[in-house]
Amino acid sequence: MNNNTLDLGNTNSPNSLPHFVAKNIIKNFGGIKALNNLNFEVYRGEVMGLVGDNGAGKSTLMKAISGSQLCDSGTFMIDGEEVKISSPQDASKYGIQIVYQDLALCENLDIPANLFLGNEKKLFNYLRFIPNFLLPLDHLSMEESAIESMKNLKVSTIKSMQAKIGFLSGGQRQSIAIARAIKSDSSIVLLDEPTAALGVSQTKEVLDLVLRLKETNHAVVIISHNLNNVFEVCDRITVIRQGENVEVFDKLKSTPDQIVSAITRGT
Ligand SMILES: Nc1ncnc2c1ncn2[C@@H]1O[C@H](COP(=O)(O)OP(=O)(O)O)[C@@H](O)[C@H]1O
Ligand SMILES: [Mg+2]
Repeated sequence: MNNNTLDLGNTNSPNSLPHFVAKNIIKNFGGIKALNNLNFEVYRGEVMGLVGDNGAGKSTLMKAISGSQLCDSGTFMIDGEEVKISSPQDASKYGIQIVYQDLALCENLDIPANLFLGNEKKLFNYLRFIPNFLLPLDHLSMEESAIESMKNLKVSTIKSMQAKIGFLSGGQRQSIAIARAIKSDSSIVLLDEPTAALGVSQTKEVLDLVLRLKETNHAVVIISHNLNNVFEVCDRITVIRQGENVEVFDKLKSTPDQIVSAITRGT
């Protein structure tokens, strides 16, 4: 079991701090105000939906949090402490992982190779005089880790770790991208439209995985156009419109109609 699993009963108490906060984030593209003083927060053990019309600034916010696109100004905080996120490496150091919609998996490689892409396990790595790139791959150890990751995520539909990614279903690919994002000691997982290209049963697999991340006390942010999905897995929903926060809704106290009207108000 993940050792950062805590008593979720305490995690979201009114006195506890959000795990991650973005404050007054501004990002302009020329004359376009993609993010205009945007505020955002997510607790551990919470799934936060991020919704808004096309062009509202959702992906720009995700990219800023994951360090792949710098914002012009604003502050990020983790557990109440300010952190500087200037690169994907910074984000990863702070336990922030993003799963992009296009997944960036290698179709011709098997599951362990994709999970360890760029971070491969090597045999004989105690032989310090041999440069790392010359060492042979430790296939067995990577396969064992891959099986362990899939087991932890309760992914049961993948029959063989040797399957090439190109032969897997969309839902299985999404599971592997999520497993890759969280195999390191991440605490914040960002998912940009993870179910957009999936059928009904594959969508369910991925939403189950999202709930699993919540159970293991991750702070989870999910962008989705599908309000049914959002209502199924999210605890709260942040609506952004033209780069500004419209409102944060508690799922249990709101209806899909209210969310739709917040998304489209003024358009
Ligand atoms: N790299 C970019 N260059 C110029 N404009 C961009 C770029 N990325 C996003 N934008 C603009 O910023 C706004 C927000 O885009 P985006 O964050 O992709 O919205 P969403 O993900 O909510 O659909 C849009 O007006 C979009 O055209
Ligand atoms: Mg987008």
